[in-house]
Order: sequence, then C-alpha cells, then structure tokens
Amino acid sequence: MQGIVLTILLMIFMLIASPCSCARTQVFDVVRYGAFGNGKTDDSQAFLRAWSDMCKASRARGIPTLVIPRGKVFQLKPVAFLGPCNSNIVLVLVEGTIIAPVNTQEWKDKSMWIQFSNVNGLSITGNGNIDGQGSVWWKSCFPNKALHFNNCNGLQLTKLRHLNSPRNHISISSCNGVHISHLNIFAPEESPNTDGIDISTSRNIEINNSVIQTGDDCIAINEGSSYINVSSVACGPGHGISIGSLGQNGKYETVEEVHVRDCNFTGTQNGARIKTWKGGSGYARKITFENIRVRNSQNPIIIDQNYDPFGTNAGSQKAVKVSDVTFKDVRGTAAKELAIDLTCSQGMGCTNIVLDEIDIQSSIPGKRTYSHCDNVHGTARACNPAVPCVASS
Ligand SMILES: *[C@@H]1O[C@H](CO)[C@@H](O)[C@H](O)[C@H]1NC(C)=O
Ligand SMILES: *[C@@H]1O[C@H](CO)[C@@H](O)[C@H](O)[C@H]1NC(C)=O
Ligand SMILES: *[C@@H]1O[C@H](CO)[C@@H](O)[C@H](O)[C@H]1NC(C)=O
Repeated sequence: MQGIVLTILLMIFMLIASPCSCARTQVFDVVRYGAFGNGKTDDSQAFLRAWSDMCKASRARGIPTLVIPRGKVFQLKPVAFLGPCNSNIVLVLVEGTIIAPVNTQEWKDKSMWIQFSNVNGLSITGNGNIDGQGSVWWKSCFPNKALHFNNCNGLQLTKLRHLNSPRNHISISSCNGVHISHLNIFAPEESPNTDGIDISTSRNIEINNSVIQTGDDCIAINEGSSYINVSSVACGPGHGISIGSLGQNGKYETVEEVHVRDCNFTGTQNGARIKTWKGGSGYARKITFENIRVRNSQNPIIIDQNYDPFGTNAGSQKAVKVSDVTFKDVRGTAAKELAIDLTCSQGMGCTNIVLDEIDIQSSIPGKRTYSHCDNVHGTARACNPAVPCVASS
C-alpha cells in the first residue's frame, strides 16, 4: 500500500518536473569552464569546451545556453563553433565583453574571428559587446571578418553591440530564416571595409530596429540572396544599403525580393544602391526602397549597371539584368547636386524602374539637385529632382 502511494507521489513529482515547453535553460557558463575574463588571457579553449558540452546537451533538460557573464572581458583568438548541436534551439547569452587579440600574429592566417557553422536554431542575445579591436588592421588589407555565420538556419541575433571589426562585422552565408533586431554596430567612418551586415546565398531574412554606423556598407546584400526585409534601420555614417556588387569576373549572380522600408541614411556615401559589374550576368530584381529619409547623403539613389572600376570589361556588352525596382517616398537632403544617378548598360538597360514621391533637396545652400539616367525604362511620378530621363517602357 505504502509502495503504491509512493509510486503515485513519484509519478506526480515526475509529471511536474518533466520537460515542458516553458523556457527553461541549461546553463553552460564559460567561467566554469576555465575562462578568466581578465581581458588579457586567451579564453578560446574554455569557450570551446563549454560550447562542446552545450552543443551535446539535449533539449529535454531546458534550452542549452552558453553564458558569457557580465562584468568581465574575454579575449578570444579566431575560433569556430561548429554544429550540428543536439538541441534544435541553442542560446548564446553574451552579457560580458568579448574582444579580439590586438597582436595580429594571434590571428595567424585566419580570415574570420568568430565563426558559427552548421548550427540550426541558434539565438545570440544579451547586453554585451563584441569588440573586434580592428584599428590595428585598418591600415593593412587582410580580410578578417568578425562574426561569421555559415549554414545556420533559424538564426536570431538581437541586442548586442558590435564594435570596430577588422573588416565586416557580421556576415551571413548559406542561411535560411534569419531574424536580426535591436543591434548596434559601430566603427569609425574612416575605417575601411567595415560593413555592418553582409548577406550572401541566404534567404528569408528580416533585419529591423538597428543602428549601424560604420566605414562601409551598413547592409550589403550579395549573390544568391532573396526574400530580405529591412526596416527601421538608422544607417550612417557608412555607405548605405547596397545590393551587390553582382557579376564580377563575368559571373552569373542573382538577388531578388529585397524590401527596405522606414530607414534613415545620415551622412552616408550612398543611400539606396544597386551595383552590378559590366560583363556579368544574372539579375537583381523585385527590389523596393520605401519611406526612406536621407540627410546629407552623397548618392541617395544610385543604380550602376556598368560598374567596371579597372576597365577590365570595357568591351563587354553583357550585364546583370536590373528590373522591377521601386523607390517610393524617399525624402531629405543630398550632399551633392546629383541626387538620383541611374546608369544602365547600353546593351541591356534597366527595366521597370519606378520612382514615386521623391523629394531630395541639396544640402548645399542655393544649389538644386538634378538626376541622371542612361538606358533606364520605367516611370517617375512626383519627383524632385525631376527625372525626365526615365523613358516609359
Ligand atoms: C522585427 O523583427 C522581430 C524579430 O524578427 C519581429 O518579431 C518583429 O515583428 C519585427 N518588427 C517589425 C516592425 O517588422
Ligand atoms: C517580408 O515582408 C513581407 C511583407 O510585409 C512579408 O510577407 C514576409 O513574410 C516578410 N519576410 C520575412 C522573411 O520576414
Ligand atoms: C528616422 O528619422 C525620423 C525623423 O528624425 C525619426 O522619427 C525616426 O525614428 C528615424 N528612424 C530610425 C529607424 O532611426
């Protein structure tokens, strides 16, 4: 009898304590794995040990969570966190600061600082900082990217501060389903190649509510990317939000379904840009930029289908097809008089380019803005500057 009561009690207890859909976590704290967090000692091995255990843990005991605690500074050499992990959701909670070594020798020949590969359902969040300490690299041209995600489906990045990458801050390749919000990305305006977020061969990406101030593109959308939504991003200084460049060295490259809305470009070199190489093939299509505020941007609206800075494709008639591009409700000021620059190739031209409700004034007192187009077909309505050069198709 007593045995039965005990068994029932035990069963009730097990029911209460059993895995549920509530967000319990299983903590793997890097400090418990031997990380010093003193900003000087290399903590990579401790991080990798903690990652390895976290990645092996099963979901049943709570969401496996790698914790980088607050109040400490962890130094990491170039490291790769590899999946697949056992759990279909894994969390990296960054509350402290992670820094890169300033001694360039420590990077050896690695081109990426922190890499995540083949991890599905990865979510990285927290109030911490990821500081690439990149100024030692800005004089040279080694291609060191700070944070790289490869083949991470269902990726979520929220809240962190990303600082001073040697090169691109966040690069995403071969990922499907990515949500990025509330990030802050900062590097000096004069730091070279410090793109904010780079996307290639990825689809279904949403980026919103973020502040990106760097020395290069705030967001660059490259080859093989589709279904990308960007909204409420404050960009600048930096080079704006760019599609491409596509089709370098005669390659076939494609980008489609990119929708950028409710963004601000402040003091940027470009605003909304599409850039494709002369001699390339493929397409950039179904792209919209809507409700954009520009302040003192050098090239608020720019399409260049003839990009060929070294003249290597001068004789080529080939081009990446650019079509179905809408710029709607773009307002503010340009730092130059040429505010809308649409340069398309003679052989192919750009088709269905729509400009609607554009009002860009010059920020130079007494100057007026103007537009330029070559081989552009589409429509323009309610535009300042006027865009008479768009030939209706
Ligand atoms: C911003 O992104 C988050 C996460 O992807 C999403 O839940 C939210 O709906 C988005 N907000 C807007 C205004 O698009
Ligand atoms: C992008 O926005 C469109 C329209 O608001 C929506 O239907 C689509 O699901 C969004 N895509 C992503 C990846 O968030
Ligand atoms: C863009 O600027 C406007 C006007 O200053 C402001 O109301 C809005 O919040 C800004 N949006 C973003 C994403 O920073």
